[in-house]
Amino acid sequence: MVDLDWKNIGFGYVKTKYNIRCEYHEGKWGDPYLTAHEYIPMHIAATSLHYGQEVFEGAKVFRGVDGKARLFRIEENARRMKASAEYLLMAAPPEDLFIEMCEKVIRANAEYLPPYGTGASLYVRPLLIGTTAEVGVKTALDYMFLIFVTPVGPYFKNGFAPIDVVLEKLHDRAAPRGTGQAKVGGNYAASIQAGAFAHERGFSNELYLDAAEQKYIDEFGAANFFAIKDATYITPLSRSVLGSITNKSLRVIANDLGLKVEDRPIEYEKEIGTFDEVGACGTAAVISPVGRLYDPNKDKWYEYDAPGKYSTMMYHALQDIQYGRAEDKHGWTRVIEGI
Ligand SMILES: Cc1ncc(COP(=O)(O)O)c(C=O)c1O
Repeated sequence: MVDLDWKNIGFGYVKTKYNIRCEYHEGKWGDPYLTAHEYIPMHIAATSLHYGQEVFEGAKVFRGVDGKARLFRIEENARRMKASAEYLLMAAPPEDLFIEMCEKVIRANAEYLPPYGTGASLYVRPLLIGTTAEVGVKTALDYMFLIFVTPVGPYFKNGFAPIDVVLEKLHDRAAPRGTGQAKVGGNYAASIQAGAFAHERGFSNELYLDAAEQKYIDEFGAANFFAIKDATYITPLSRSVLGSITNKSLRVIANDLGLKVEDRPIEYEKEIGTFDEVGACGTAAVISPVGRLYDPNKDKWYEYDAPGKYSTMMYHALQDIQYGRAEDKHGWTRVIEGI
């Protein structure tokens, strides 16, 4: 294993040994290959550079208490990439190729998988880009699918701690009939200004309302929204929200824990002051419990129980599965054999 300060590596790019790539030409995918190069030779007119024809994914591998390496729900990432690619009329790698390449690149970089007990994990970043030279706005005929991995530190250095978030009042993330459900770079480009402004003012995340009416809760910049009220797990039903794999899993866990689960439009004004617990959920942190939400339109703070009872239970239940401390009764993990 490489010698890294696992607890303090943070969430940045740490060079590993190999990435894996596969190319699509003349209607078919070629053979995947590992490479030590960190750069991509690309045509200056590639569709990904000019028209944002790029989609990506994010997943994690965890070293378990039993020493086994576990990938979490990776087939969901493969399916989501396919759905995102379809929106942009891109060719997507088939699910089995996606998973095979993930396993290969993880094995090739096994020495970068952080040890159990450090809170660190190996982040997996699949990326699909259009590579055909085009000047008009149209879909590419050629694609590159690549996956790199990089070790990331524990999200919470000081334990499972509450965060402050802000209601976003100047920017929309995704249009109601736009790309919000797809994991495309353009959505993140649209949120960079809002995210930077929120961070400058000491907020961990910004909360978006629906772009059409500013009436319903959508999601955070890079995490889904959930709330707990009257022993019910509530999460927004919206066409412009990314289908979070963590959120999907938390709904199942909430149900396992005896909570009611509601997937429905959430009216901000009507409900934001009524929740017991609020959380941001995603691969990065599983759950970031929201302690306070600042509403700049009213110069008002909303406060929540954080970390609340149910968020804490769900957080541990999910992490216990990821780290092999609890039975994986839903079949969510894939053990990478031999590392
Ligand atoms: C916009 C957005 N919403 C939600 C999520 C959480 O999704 P997941 O749980 O699949 O990581 C992410 C992070 O991937 C995201 O970028």
